Amino acid sequence: MDYNVLFPRFHLAEIEDQPWCPELLRTNTHKFLARFWKASTSNKGSPALQACQILVRELGGLTKASEYTFVDSCAGAGGPTPIIEPILNEQLRSTGHNTVQFKLTDLWPDLKAWKEVASQHKNISFVEFPVDATKAIRLSGDNKECRMYNLCFHHFDDPAAEKVLLSAVESSDAFFIFEMTHRTAPSLLNTFIINWQPFFTTIYDWWWSPLHLIFVYLIPLIPILTAWDGLVSCIRGRTADETWDLLTKSSGLSVEEWQQKHGWELRSGREVVLPPFGTMYWCAGIKKPN
Ligand SMILES: C[S@@+](CC[C@H](N)C(=O)[O-])C[C@H]1O[C@@H](n2cnc3c(N)ncnc32)[C@H](O)[C@@H]1O
Repeated sequence: MDYNVLFPRFHLAEIEDQPWCPELLRTNTHKFLARFWKASTSNKGSPALQACQILVRELGGLTKASEYTFVDSCAGAGGPTPIIEPILNEQLRSTGHNTVQFKLTDLWPDLKAWKEVASQHKNISFVEFPVDATKAIRLSGDNKECRMYNLCFHHFDDPAAEKVLLSAVESSDAFFIFEMTHRTAPSLLNTFIINWQPFFTTIYDWWWSPLHLIFVYLIPLIPILTAWDGLVSCIRGRTADETWDLLTKSSGLSVEEWQQKHGWELRSGREVVLPPFGTMYWCAGIKKPN
């Protein structure tokens, strides 16, 4: 699919990925993302709701979706999972299906945020130890496993992204990549518009805390971090063709040949989920039944 990208992909460094990035800034960026997933500027609902609709549609409807355990592989503060879980499970319950489980994992587990999420959602649990998405383990037992990579796939450079995809194909039954940053005009405009919100989120969250005295020194860093990281996230965006190329290149097969040989179906699309500019780019792989 042609995404009208404006320039080639470069894997520039994001401040959030650096070991020296203050933990408070990283946590606040994740909190901002968790809020972003709930935002809505149209009657189509939040980006999380629309991601849920994409999941169900592409998995083949509610009956098929009810067969999976959903693993949020780079969960941050929880991302869209606490929003998707009640929506999907309510749809499943009201149509006579079993409810499904969600699991949060991350290389740097945010246990404080996850404990709060799990206390409010009995169908969401988490893995306390670090899980590296490049060599993820199967967590769904006898159920089918669907891995979600929400706003995180651009964090991986090409060798790591290849490992993430190969690991998903090896040890899961479906995967979805959701991204809102890309090398396109709508993405760049959307990122420019929403980029400033972590600044206000941080002031709002920390103003009354005794820690704000320490944080005041970090506040000037926030707009710099978010502006830079937002821009870099866009520059790191991948088209579906670039994503599938990572998955197939080691085999030397074309995408069609790869799908046929491995029994997986690869699909992709984009939808405006936060008008006027906020576009969700998604790539999905679904293992075909034997
Ligand atoms: C931009 S945040 C996205 C958070 C969340 N998915 C959301 O939508 O709000 C990227 C996340 O990827 C995680 N991450 C980075 N490298 C990882 C890896 N190799 N394995 C698992 N998680 C990783 C980071 O810890 C961070 O929580």
